[in-house]
Amino acid sequence: MAGLGSYGKAALVLGLAMLLLPPLHRHYPRCRVGSGAPAALAAGPAPAVPAFPRNLTVMVFGGSTSTGRGTSAKGNRWTEVFRRAFEAATGSSVTLINKARGGTEADFFASCFPRYLSGPKPDLFLLEFAINGGNVTRLVESIYRHTDAPVVLVRQMSCFPASRYAAGDPTGRVSWPEQREEQRTAGYVYRLHEFDLVNELVPYYGSPCSRESLPKLFDTKLAPGQHLNDLGQRLLGEFVARELVRNWGAINNASRRAAAPAGSNERESCFYAGNGGGSANSVKTAFAPEGEGWTFVTNVPAGRKYEACWSSAVPGSRLVSVAPVNFDRATMYLEYSHRPAKLRVSCGPNAATGKSVTLSEVTAHLGMNGTMIQSVVLTGQCRSQRLTVEALDAGPQQPARVCGISMFVSG
Ligand SMILES: *[C@@H]1O[C@H](CO)[C@@H](O)[C@H](O)[C@H]1NC(C)=O
Ligand SMILES: *[C@@H]1O[C@H](CO)[C@@H](O)[C@H](O)[C@H]1NC(C)=O
Ligand SMILES: *[C@@H]1O[C@H](CO)[C@@H](O)[C@H](O)[C@H]1NC(C)=O
Ligand SMILES: *[C@@H]1O[C@H](CO)[C@@H](O)[C@H](O)[C@H]1NC(C)=O
Repeated sequence: MAGLGSYGKAALVLGLAMLLLPPLHRHYPRCRVGSGAPAALAAGPAPAVPAFPRNLTVMVFGGSTSTGRGTSAKGNRWTEVFRRAFEAATGSSVTLINKARGGTEADFFASCFPRYLSGPKPDLFLLEFAINGGNVTRLVESIYRHTDAPVVLVRQMSCFPASRYAAGDPTGRVSWPEQREEQRTAGYVYRLHEFDLVNELVPYYGSPCSRESLPKLFDTKLAPGQHLNDLGQRLLGEFVARELVRNWGAINNASRRAAAPAGSNERESCFYAGNGGGSANSVKTAFAPEGEGWTFVTNVPAGRKYEACWSSAVPGSRLVSVAPVNFDRATMYLEYSHRPAKLRVSCGPNAATGKSVTLSEVTAHLGMNGTMIQSVVLTGQCRSQRLTVEALDAGPQQPARVCGISMFVSG
């Protein structure tokens, strides 16, 4: 238990620093209702907040940090630390539904949102996309179209290891400050609460990415500085619990929230792998290879068992929708590896003209060591024709992978 010593020390430093330091960072205003010293955790229900429910169901969407990457044991994940700390502080019993998935953008969760609501009804959503980014606004809109449970942005950070992590294009991955800003956009638009760990840590650790602080807070074995380690995740989990307690009234104040997104009259149909139930169908049954090349893989290398995508290593090979499709707009989910393949997505051939219309030529901008699920928007309609995905330059080290599609038809 080598970690206990450093936990103890960190807690002591934290406690002392809290007594001594005023909140400093005007650029990251704290998300707090009151002011003054943080409330102690595990000291019984905090005063002057509305009653905490006996049972609270919390759904988490996020990336690898929220799956526990960077920690030495499952119980050290920030989500578990949060659950224990919140229960101790409030007496509530928390049911945690953790939908986090490594290397996955926020957009992935935005599609076919009802698939997440087939089980226990969440009372609260926590979103953590500091590393993977994606359109968090889109995810918030999907949530608010289907539920009025409050949404909180959990803003942790990563010390931008992308240049070290990237195998090819060092600009391939958006830097973490940009991804933090993407989250802010969603926060501004929907007046969300943002729990910003950077703001919390700076008084005690200076820059979390400094030479001194990085090894304390982050995993340094793989991609140093990318994933919060046991201490970093513990601080994050306790911070989220404390902020939630402190802001409980405001978070649950419906009149504080911006209006829900305009009622969309679009109908969404979607195809995913491994996501039965809800409104999603299997992407396995949606497409079929035309000739050799594409196969359905259920265990994509990188140790993530839950992935299942159509995959090809054969240049020019084609994957065709089994049935004609109908959409006014669509988003396709692809898995990118460090050497992403180029894809062409087209609608057709049209029975009358014999021609296909190219909707998108997809050149991934990513380039990272490992894989990541990203979305591409197909620019154009497809009406009662088949959809074809062509792997332009795939190869064994450069696989093309199609993992899902979400299609919208205007009502
Ligand atoms: C809380 O959950 C427990 C166990 O799941 C259940 O027995 C109890 O009835 C629930 N209480 C409320 C108030 O929903
Ligand atoms: C993000 O999604 C929202 C809602 O769908 C959309 O209005 C906005 O343009 C998107 N932002 C970007 C950068 O694509
Ligand atoms: C990429 O990952 C492989 C193992 O998966 C490792 O051997 C290699 O050093 C990594 N490259 C970079 C640039 O991190
Ligand atoms: C809820 O929010 C509104 C608007 O910000 C505010 O006027 C009201 O006092 C709040 N109510 C409670 C109970 O906090």
